[in-house]
Amino acid sequence: MSQPFDLSGTVIAITGASSGFGHHFAGVLAAAGATVVLGARREEKLAERVADIEAAGGTALAVKLDVRDTDSISRFIDTAFDRFGRLDVLINNAGVEAGAKTYAMIDEEDWDYVIDTNLKSAWLASKHYTEQVQAHSQDSGNIVMISSITDTRTIKGQFPYAVSKGGLTRMTQVMALEAARYNIRVNALAPGYILTDVSRILLESDAAPEFVKGIPMRRFGDFEDLDGPILLLASDASRYMTGSVLTVDGGHVCASL
Ligand SMILES: NC(=O)c1ccc[n+]([C@@H]2O[C@H](COP(=O)([O-])OP(=O)(O)OC[C@H]3O[C@@H](n4cnc5c(N)ncnc54)[C@H](OP(=O)(O)O)[C@@H]3O)[C@@H](O)[C@H]2O)c1
Repeated sequence: MSQPFDLSGTVIAITGASSGFGHHFAGVLAAAGATVVLGARREEKLAERVADIEAAGGTALAVKLDVRDTDSISRFIDTAFDRFGRLDVLINNAGVEAGAKTYAMIDEEDWDYVIDTNLKSAWLASKHYTEQVQAHSQDSGNIVMISSITDTRTIKGQFPYAVSKGGLTRMTQVMALEAARYNIRVNALAPGYILTDVSRILLESDAAPEFVKGIPMRRFGDFEDLDGPILLLASDASRYMTGSVLTVDGGHVCASL
């Protein structure tokens, strides 16, 4: 393993790649040599990102994806196998939040929106991926969940979101146990707070300056803080890791909230 983080020759599919983390990961993974398959609902954003990656010398494909639609998830994964013959890594990144609401404030629509997008979709995509790894006699597979530090530590008003991330972290551990028989590894990345549309409501609020004091490193994260961790989980550098949850948060979960 002279180049353990090298992704040359690999194919990686990323859900929620039209903005935020997924958009950033696509560029990082392509620069490391991966062919990247980008999925999300906003096709024009995906097309722009594919053009950026190709202009930088990479290989990328955009596939329209709605992770709340089981057939759409299957088509997304099938397209990667059909076009490139294999899919080495599936990154379940698509996610939404319901606004600053408690369990008493959300309605069933909020619950279904967040839980279906953040949690149910990760199971459905991972299940279909596992079936296709076997159908294509691929010797191994790799699933990366994008969880969050809200999986274990939260504040009021993150109700369905934090519940979905708690489930996603637990899904990672249970799935790792069950997927080992297919030689599929399953790990999660649990970032702290980084400014995107998912975190904007808190990070741009009046409470943000006080909130950041709870982070031992005294700053919110930057996209680039996730580059090493995503390369680790997506590559053979993590070959003996499965069921792990990699926290990247400036020490936030070590502090009392
Ligand atoms: N930002 C943070 O501080 C933070 C911290 C920890 C974890 N996370 C997690 O990181 C992941 C990415 O979020 P982000 O912060 O990068 O926010 P973001 O910029 O809003 O990205 C969310 C992505 O999910 C996609 N998405 C949402 N619903 C979808 C659907 N039904 N089908 C397909 N794609 C869908 C969106 O694309 P379309 O709208 O085009 O479909 C978008 O590309 C989420 O799982 C989030 O929970 C974020």
